[in-house]
Amino acid sequence: MYRTKTCGELRLTNTGETVTLAGWVQRIRKMGGMTFIDLRDRYGITQLAFNQGTEAFEQANALGREYVIQVTGTVIERQSKNAQLETGEIEIDVQKLTVLNAAVTPPFTIEDETDGGDDIRMKYRYLDLRRSCVRKNLELRHRMAFEVRRYLDQQGFLEVETPVLVNSTPEGARDFVVPSRMNPGQFYALPQSPQILKQLLMVSGFDRYFQIVKCFRDEDLRADRQPEFTQIDCEMSFVEQEDVLNVFEGMSRHLFKTILNIDLPKLPRMTWQDAMKYYGSDKPDTRFGMTFVELQDIFHAAEAKKPEEERFSVFATAKYIGGICATGCASYTRKQLDQLTEFVRRPQIGAKGMVYARVEQDGSVKSSVDKFYSQDVLQAVAKEMNAQAGDLLLILSGEDTMKTRKQLSELRLEMGRQLGLRDPKKFSCLWVIDFPMYEWSDEENRLMAMHHPFTSPKPEDIPLMDTDPASVRANAYDMVINGVEVGGGSIRIHDAKLQEKTFEILGFTPEQAQTKFGFLMNAFKYGAPPHGGLAYGLDRFVSLFAGLDSIRDCIAFPKNNQGRDVMLGAPGELDPIQLDELQLDIRKSRPQ
Ligand code: AMO
Repeated sequence: MYRTKTCGELRLTNTGETVTLAGWVQRIRKMGGMTFIDLRDRYGITQLAFNQGTEAFEQANALGREYVIQVTGTVIERQSKNAQLETGEIEIDVQKLTVLNAAVTPPFTIEDETDGGDDIRMKYRYLDLRRSCVRKNLELRHRMAFEVRRYLDQQGFLEVETPVLVNSTPEGARDFVVPSRMNPGQFYALPQSPQILKQLLMVSGFDRYFQIVKCFRDEDLRADRQPEFTQIDCEMSFVEQEDVLNVFEGMSRHLFKTILNIDLPKLPRMTWQDAMKYYGSDKPDTRFGMTFVELQDIFHAAEAKKPEEERFSVFATAKYIGGICATGCASYTRKQLDQLTEFVRRPQIGAKGMVYARVEQDGSVKSSVDKFYSQDVLQAVAKEMNAQAGDLLLILSGEDTMKTRKQLSELRLEMGRQLGLRDPKKFSCLWVIDFPMYEWSDEENRLMAMHHPFTSPKPEDIPLMDTDPASVRANAYDMVINGVEVGGGSIRIHDAKLQEKTFEILGFTPEQAQTKFGFLMNAFKYGAPPHGGLAYGLDRFVSLFAGLDSIRDCIAFPKNNQGRDVMLGAPGELDPIQLDELQLDIRKSRPQ
């Protein structure tokens, strides 16, 4: 037996027992006639004590960090206890030490507060994973996945695996592709999600499907995006939107309760229109208020009363003017306000400028546009924004309503951050519903499916598909937690004719639709039940529960911002023999 106990389980009640432990040497402290070692395994850290004059003492002094050792000794009460450690009241008086494996000095310290930077930790990720703060994230991930399975199993869902070598799936990103040796010149695509396959499982009568599944999307990376990530993918038959929302609200409630011991209240629902109007985002962070107030009516009315030369042209020509009220922030200094202006003018945000107004203690309003507007107008603005003495009003304007709302959303989030209103330990969840069915793409010069092409329109909006497709609302929904889209789905089209019509609106010719999705439309002819579902991003869910800034930290072996696995050196070049077998001649496309 390598061990009788783990490094995390011994307590005062074990005093006097003879135990054998195995693990890694975290730290060695030599103190005259005594040497102490912190021994670490997955379960914790236990202090080992070695007395001068014993063979084990000599061996201990020759060890280095991260050696793998086995010790046998007696559990004794510690003289100086360590309240930070669960095993901090005891230590092992070691009688026998066996070195199981030596280790070269690791490139960074294996401690929660490590001296290793991001790059080096990613290169030696297997060492990084020894750190308890990283390991805890993966333990949390395991527990969440386990509870998801437990809940869905109880609800009658079957876990079915779908293939990874498939064809292109239309989730809106680029595909990762795999060349086929047996079919030269042809490629598989890795699934962006198992969307079509889960719908086919409904046609097969599976009724309730789920899968915790890897998905692949070749898109630009961000803190909440990885090229390969994991979905909790689900689909149900004979359901309406209400049924799907209930089941998955239940799943979230189960996770919050079992993992965080939080009782989730009934989730509020917000239409996409309202989310955009009040938060400028389809994933509003509702941990705090500071909702948008539209001010174009007040300002335009004021402008209309002025002679041309006295107009504030920025507001006079703006289609949208919106503001947020930062409670108690009238004391913001000029420097802080300039920094906020710089913030909104960054190219990523793209606002031209920012107008601000302070409500003074006497109730008067002092603004950066005082010379254009009378106190009456500014008072009307303050009233509209429900501002009190001591509040700060921040206002953005623009030609394009949606773009300006998105800029104001960034400003709102920044203010929320500065004011400490985005506490990662506080959770605010909601459903965003009634998404538009289509959105215009300037790049493609056509309407695109906002969710995906299999999403059904709201029945009452079907007639609009002929007259005004851009205004059709979809039976689609997202679950949003703390401003993060953790999941999304829809009720699907199960009627081949309606599906054809959608493809037509999306600009597919009947032939293109037939080539790409003929098998699905064909399947619908064989008795497709009404169905719908959704998929959660497991990585996002876990990182929210763990309070992480990036989903990378809850993935065992993540990719970096360039989509590289620096530990494996992937992606890498292929051997010429492999290239020949695949009949791929990439030399042609290589830069000379
Ligand atoms: P969607 O594209 O909204 O829907 O994806 C579902 C959820 O997956 C997560 N997600 C990601 N997580 C990490 N990295 C990424 N690159 C990434 N992309 C998406 C998000 C998102 O909410 N087939 C549909 C679901 C359905 O209609 O049932 C789909 O994939 O948390």
